[in-house]
Amino acid sequence: MRKKLVVGNWKMHGSRASNAVLLAGLKEAGPWNAQVAVCVPFPYITETALALTGQLVAFGAQDCSAHEQGAYTGEVSSAMLADIGCRYVITGHSERRAYHHESDQLVADKAKAALAHGITPIVCVGETLAEREAGRTEEVVKRQLAAVIHTLTHCIGEIVVAYEPVWAIGTGLTATPEQAQHVHALLRQQLKAATQKADQMQILYGGSVKPDNAAQLFAQPDIDGGLIGGAALKAADFAAICRAA
Ligand code: G3P
Repeated sequence: MRKKLVVGNWKMHGSRASNAVLLAGLKEAGPWNAQVAVCVPFPYITETALALTGQLVAFGAQDCSAHEQGAYTGEVSSAMLADIGCRYVITGHSERRAYHHESDQLVADKAKAALAHGITPIVCVGETLAEREAGRTEEVVKRQLAAVIHTLTHCIGEIVVAYEPVWAIGTGLTATPEQAQHVHALLRQQLKAATQKADQMQILYGGSVKPDNAAQLFAQPDIDGGLIGGAALKAADFAAICRAA
C-alpha cells in the first residue's frame, strides 16, 4: 500500500511575514494521514525548517543544479540543499522547462545530483495543450520519463514522479480524475519495465488541485497524492487537500 504524499510548491511567492502565517496555519491544521511537504523559495528554506521543527511536514526546494560545485553563478547545489536538511527537490517543473529551456537530460541530471546527496527528486512531466490536442500526450510524458530512467538506471525507484499537464497549471482547468489516472497508469507501466519498485513509487498529480477536487483525484488507483501550487498558499486550502489524501 503506497502512502499518499502532498507537496506544496510555493513557486515565487511569499515573504517572511506571509510565510510565518502560512506555516503557523499548517502547524495548527496537521497532522494528516498523508506525508506532507512544502517546497519553498531558496531564501526561505532555513526559516521554514526552523518553523517546522518538531512537525511532520517535510521541506524542500524547487530546483537544484546538476553540478556538484564550482563557478556556476546563481546556482544552488544539491549538497547545499542537503546541508540545510532538505528532503525533497522539484526537478523539471514545466515552468523551468519552458522559461529556462531545461531539457529532458538536464532534468534527469538534476535528479541524479539530488539523489547523490540523499534528497528525493520530485520529477515533473507533462504535456502542453497543443501536444494533448495533437494526441501526443503519451509520447511526450514517456520521452520525459525515459530520460530520467536512462540516467538514474538502478536508482529510478527512489524518485517521486509528478504528472502535471501544463494546460492544467494555474488555469483552473483540472484534468479529470480519469484523464489523470490514464497517464499515471502509463507512467507506472513504464516504471515497471525499469524497476521492481514501481508499485511502491509515488506518482503525484499537479494542476489546479483544490479542496473540492482533491479527494476524487486521490481516489484513483495510480494517483498517490498531489503537487499543489496556488492552493498551497492558503493554509486552510492546503490543509483540506492534505486531509483529502
Ligand atoms: O507544481 C504545482 C503546480 O504547477 C500546480 O499549480 O497552481 O495549478 O496548483 P496550480
